[in-house]
Amino acid sequence: MGSLSRAAALAALVAAFFGGFVGCAAAPPRHHNHRPVDEGGDDPKPPPPLGPWTDFGRLSTFQAAGDIAHSAHRIGTDSGHLLRSPDADASFKGTQPVGALFVEALSPEPTAPIEAYFIMRRTPAASGPASWEYLVATPDGTLAAQGNLGLCVRCHAEAGPTGLFPP
Ligand code: HEC
Repeated sequence: MGSLSRAAALAALVAAFFGGFVGCAAAPPRHHNHRPVDEGGDDPKPPPPLGPWTDFGRLSTFQAAGDIAHSAHRIGTDSGHLLRSPDADASFKGTQPVGALFVEALSPEPTAPIEAYFIMRRTPAASGPASWEYLVATPDGTLAAQGNLGLCVRCHAEAGPTGLFPP
C-alpha cells in the first residue's frame, strides 16, 4: 500500500514535471505504448501501476559514475548520484551495449534519502531517440513512468548522438 501511494505521488510529480513543458509542445499527441484500460473502473483517477522496476534488484552491482550538484531534473536543485550497470561504457562517449543502464538517484541534499531514480536503458536501436528507454522509479523500486517518454527524449537529444550528458 505504502509503495503504491508513493508511486502515485511520484507519478503526480512526473506529471507535474512534464506538464510544465506542455505549453512549448505544439506537436499533436504522439503514439504512446498504450496500457490496457483499467478494468476495475471504480476510480479512474489513480494511474494503473506499472509494476516493479526489474533491474532494481541488481542495483547493488552497479558502479558509481559521478555526482551531480544541481541536477537538471525535477526542480533543478537536487543532488544526483550517477550509477551505471557493469556492462555500460564508463566514458559515456562510446557505443553502449544493448541493455546497458544509467541511473541517477535523486535527493534534495547529498545525504538525504533518495526520492526517485531516473533511468535510461539502451535498446537495440542503433541510434536516435529510440536507442534509449526512459524510466522513473520510486526508492523502493516501483515504476512511476516507463517508455519513450517525450520530455526525457527531447532534452536528452540535446546531449548529442550518445543521448548522455557526461557528469
Ligand atoms: C531539462 C532537460 C532534461 C530532462 C527533461 C531530462 N533529463 Fe535526464 N539528464 C539531463 C542532464 C543535464 C543530465 C546530467 C545530470 C543532471 O543534470 O542530473 C541528465 C542525466 C540523466 C541520466 C544519467 C545519464 C546521463 O546522461 O548523464 C539519466 C539516467 C537520466 N538523465 C534520465 C532521465 C529521464 C528518465 C528523464 C525523463 C523522466 C530525463 N532524464 C529527463 C537533462 C534532462
